[in-house]
Amino acid sequence: MKRRHLLLGAAAAGAAGAWLARPADAGGPALAYFEGLQRALGGLPAMPTLVVDRQRLRANLGRIRQTAHPKLPLRVVVKSLPALGLLDAAMAAWATRRVMLFNAPQLALVAMARPDVDILLGKPLPASAARWALEQPGDARFDPGRQIQWLVDTPERLAEYAVLAKGRGQPMRINIEIDVGLHRGGVETGNQLATMLGLLRNEPLLHFAGLMGYDAHLAAIPDLAGNRASAQAEAQRRYAAMLALARERLGPADAAWTLNTAGSPTFHLHDDRHAPNELSVGSAAVKPSDFDKPSLAMLEPAAFIATPVLKTMDEFRLPVGAETVSRLAGWWDVNQRRALAIHGGHWLADPVSPPGVAPSGLYGASSNQQVLVASPSVPLAVGDWVFLRPRQSEALFLQFGAIVVIDQGQPVEHWPVLPASA
Ligand SMILES: Cc1ncc(COP(=O)(O)O)c(C=O)c1O
Repeated sequence: MKRRHLLLGAAAAGAAGAWLARPADAGGPALAYFEGLQRALGGLPAMPTLVVDRQRLRANLGRIRQTAHPKLPLRVVVKSLPALGLLDAAMAAWATRRVMLFNAPQLALVAMARPDVDILLGKPLPASAARWALEQPGDARFDPGRQIQWLVDTPERLAEYAVLAKGRGQPMRINIEIDVGLHRGGVETGNQLATMLGLLRNEPLLHFAGLMGYDAHLAAIPDLAGNRASAQAEAQRRYAAMLALARERLGPADAAWTLNTAGSPTFHLHDDRHAPNELSVGSAAVKPSDFDKPSLAMLEPAAFIATPVLKTMDEFRLPVGAETVSRLAGWWDVNQRRALAIHGGHWLADPVSPPGVAPSGLYGASSNQQVLVASPSVPLAVGDWVFLRPRQSEALFLQFGAIVVIDQGQPVEHWPVLPASA
């Protein structure tokens, strides 16, 4: 008897504890900032829309320029700001014509649309892709032999570029990728670099243009016991050693060499006392959530997806056969009691307004009409807008036709995104 009482008591206490441990209501009305965006979108057709807040974008661009060392020019990472409007805004704010490109279609397009830019490839393109880019119709003002630095990572690829250059009688500037610790690619040893510099000296159509050492790992590795500081010192040491070797082999004509490094998470780490003489930055200008880092705390998210609510459901229900599961989920978690279907979905993005709206972990994701869950305290009706914050910009932006630029509560421009490419 006593034992049964004990068991019953324990079960009751467990149930009460579980009841108290239930998730709190995370719902609430749309945040004032997003109400403003919703008003601005009022006159536009209700469909998934990529919105850029021009005031935030401009403020971010200005703060990035102020944070980066004043003696180091910035190079715009086009893949992360893939619309000519975004590219123009960044180039204007940073007083630069330097851009970094990552694939042949975007390379050909930017060379055509902005023929005065100075292009550095951010990845080593296969020689056949480089050839394809060179074969695309170009603007007469753009000189590929002067305005493109092709990134090359191995002696083998350099040999392929030599064949390409000779075949077309095309002078090509070569920037050599070096591994400063990220281990994603690039030259790791002095011997490799020496071999490549030797090949370059023997091929009059290929010209050495500089080095590129990307250091994203400095922001990603755990910062334990000086780990980051020593990784940074190692990156500086590797860069300096490669530069010294290039100088030794080619002479000290390095004033014109492009010595590129950095990205959004690391540009703040650099000054003019080390080898690199320019910094790449892209994503930080719109600050997707993957870039919520202490070093970028001075920036604000400037891009959102706005999408209309197509349906609201007073009770969140899984399909027939699984309804009990959704009933239990709603009993347990007030934030799963209601449901709504949005236009589109399944993006690399997370709902931010109204608060408390979240993807259902139970209902399968859909790119067509995603089911989101919410608590009854979220005042959502058909036709209202849900706002999502992208986690990254580079692939996600290309999923939208044109960016709607909002300034002072008004849609002021449409910036077509670059055609889809990978
Ligand atoms: C070579 C290189 N430089 C710089 C960047 C930085 O881009 P973002 O500023 O968008 O992070 C990248 C991003 O992948 C990269 O691959």
